[in-house]
Amino acid sequence: MEPKDAIYTRRSVRSYLPEPLDAAEISKIEGWIRDAKRLTSDPVEYDLLGPDDIKTILKWRAPHYVSIYSKDDMMSGVNVGFVFQQVDLKMQSEGIGSCWLGMAKPREPRPRDGLEWGVSMSFGRPDGYPEVDKGADRKPLSEISDTADPRLEPARVAPSAVNSQTWYFRKNGEGFDLYYKPKILKIPGMSYWNYNDLGICLAHLYVSHPDTFSFERAQGKDRKYVGTVRF
Ligand SMILES: Cc1cc2nc3c(=O)[nH]c(=O)nc-3n(C[C@H](O)[C@H](O)[C@H](O)COP(=O)(O)O)c2cc1C
Repeated sequence: MEPKDAIYTRRSVRSYLPEPLDAAEISKIEGWIRDAKRLTSDPVEYDLLGPDDIKTILKWRAPHYVSIYSKDDMMSGVNVGFVFQQVDLKMQSEGIGSCWLGMAKPREPRPRDGLEWGVSMSFGRPDGYPEVDKGADRKPLSEISDTADPRLEPARVAPSAVNSQTWYFRKNGEGFDLYYKPKILKIPGMSYWNYNDLGICLAHLYVSHPDTFSFERAQGKDRKYVGTVRF
């Protein structure tokens, strides 16, 4: 399967076989991280960790985790979502299960110049695969945009923290202005994960239109404006 098809079939995998992936698969994944397109030049770093290196209240474990570091401003979080959703789609298109995790911190975060741990992603061989419901648990296009344009379908089905889907698209010529439309959820860390969500939905537009995708940030728009996307 191609990553652009995985947009419609992927689900968060929360049940894994305990066996680790082999070294060749891990190095392939590191290549995907390295080669993923960046949305901004904000720095992103990561560590690959095992289940014993993670602190989490979750009852299940995966054989692998990627623990991701960035600055905590909006565009750094958006860039993290954009980069690692490309990796999520690559994994899921090759039968590797994955799940974005706010609730899985490294036991010993590695201090890095001005960068903080922000989010993790579990991965490994799935033990069964969750039911695919083709986006039935997502908001309809009319709730995520001012023009229910079917070209936004890949963004509509994107995953987000607690499935909050805090994105809103306004038509702007041939493109769309993307806005952050937060839900008030008193969960510490939620704003950063919502920034990841915005990058995740942009990654779905990029992976579906790699040749025509462009993203820019116009000046003088309001605080909730993320950028203008064309594809
Ligand atoms: C930034 C982010 C953080 C997330 N954190 C968690 C988490 O801590 N625990 C968890 O079980 N799922 C987590 N998820 C997974 C979402 O709950 C899931 O993507 C969403 O419910 C949509 O389901 P799907 O991925 O199966 O399409 C997170 C997703 C994102 C994008």
